[in-house]
Amino acid sequence: MGNHRGIFFDVPSPLVGEGVAQVSNDNPKPFGVEHVKHQKLEYSADGEWVCAGAPDSIPQGKAITLHLPRFRVAVFHIAEEFFAIKDACPHAEYPLSKSIVCGESVTCSSHGWKFNLRTGCGERGEPATDIRTFPIEIRNNKIWVKIL
Ligand code: FES
Repeated sequence: MGNHRGIFFDVPSPLVGEGVAQVSNDNPKPFGVEHVKHQKLEYSADGEWVCAGAPDSIPQGKAITLHLPRFRVAVFHIAEEFFAIKDACPHAEYPLSKSIVCGESVTCSSHGWKFNLRTGCGERGEPATDIRTFPIEIRNNKIWVKIL
């Protein structure tokens, strides 16, 4: 597959109300249309965890994006669970938070590579290309994502 790096690299950070409506195979509905750019992030004292807000602040079937200094993290709310992944497809950096979710998998809207949100394992695309996942804990009614 060709190297398209750079073509999609400078995707602007979407704000609430923007985004790309996509359709899943099993349960067709828009996904990834409510991105929230966190202006001021809350970190744990040791800097290992970043707060993604209250669980009810991420609507069911939606994702938010945390803009960390060196990369973005997408936090998905699917069924009764939350999943955190690096918000950049390993193929050409397209935001996976703006891609197609079906069950626990996300399919990149750019060229169709597919990843498991729970494990990060690649399911379609270049062999053995996984995405980074981050542990999540709910503490005091806040979602915490372990980034270090
Ligand atoms: S950017 Fe090409 S498959 Fe995701």
